[in-house]
Amino acid sequence: MSTTPIKPARRITIPDLMACKGVRPIVSLTAYTAPFAAILDSHMDMLLVGDSLGMVVYGMESTLPVTLEDMIRHGRTVVQATRHACIIIDMPFGSYQASPEQAFINAARVMKETGAQGVKLEGGQEMAETVAFLTARAIPVMAHIGLKPQHVHSMGGYRYQGRSDGECATVLADAKAMEQAGAFSLLLEGVQATLAAEVTRQSLRPTIGIGAGQGCDGQILVTEDMAGLFNKTPKFVRTFGAMREVLETAARDYADAVTKGTFPAEEESYV
Ligand code: KIV
Repeated sequence: MSTTPIKPARRITIPDLMACKGVRPIVSLTAYTAPFAAILDSHMDMLLVGDSLGMVVYGMESTLPVTLEDMIRHGRTVVQATRHACIIIDMPFGSYQASPEQAFINAARVMKETGAQGVKLEGGQEMAETVAFLTARAIPVMAHIGLKPQHVHSMGGYRYQGRSDGECATVLADAKAMEQAGAFSLLLEGVQATLAAEVTRQSLRPTIGIGAGQGCDGQILVTEDMAGLFNKTPKFVRTFGAMREVLETAARDYADAVTKGTFPAEEESYV
């Protein structure tokens, strides 16, 4: 176990995150842009540049169209805008599934071109060889198991996992396979709460949950969901802000001021 303080003044490292297991909860959110990343940075242990940016930033239907170039552009931006949080970047669909070699070439590009500390990829037992290949070559990997959004079409929608004995056995086996392959952490998405707690109990690695109940070693949400930007959010989201209302009020007041001619005022002009 690391002897560094749990909340160091420098940027949080992968060993710092691992050292949180059993000591204190890991706090994390997603970030895709510089202003958001800069605001969130000092409050977070980890910021994930998630491929959810396809939906959140670009209004796509799913994460599938997101490219490696998208992830690198947003990943570099988030790294440059932050000093404190550990930055992890999602490997997008099609950038790692073909072979361990393909995964290494693309993950190495992500690490070199963004400065992030690690990557996240979706998969369990079927990705064990790839994760072992990456981790043996100095690429820290967070394994995303449970509900895997890149599998939306094969699942026929976004379904939480752990509804049957078979699903529970798969999630437990995926967690074990990823830990043995060297993953530094497990992201559990859409996992029935007692199953997520059991994965957390069995694993030596910190689990980070989204829609996976209270029993995980940490939590993550999509920032825009958490801050109240969208009208509709999944059941597992708690809204901690009123971002949509704040923006709507600002937009309405600005439109009003321009229409009435009260903006810009003299002090807002070069006279
Ligand atoms: O892409 C993403 O934002 C994610 C979340 C589910 C954490 O993987």
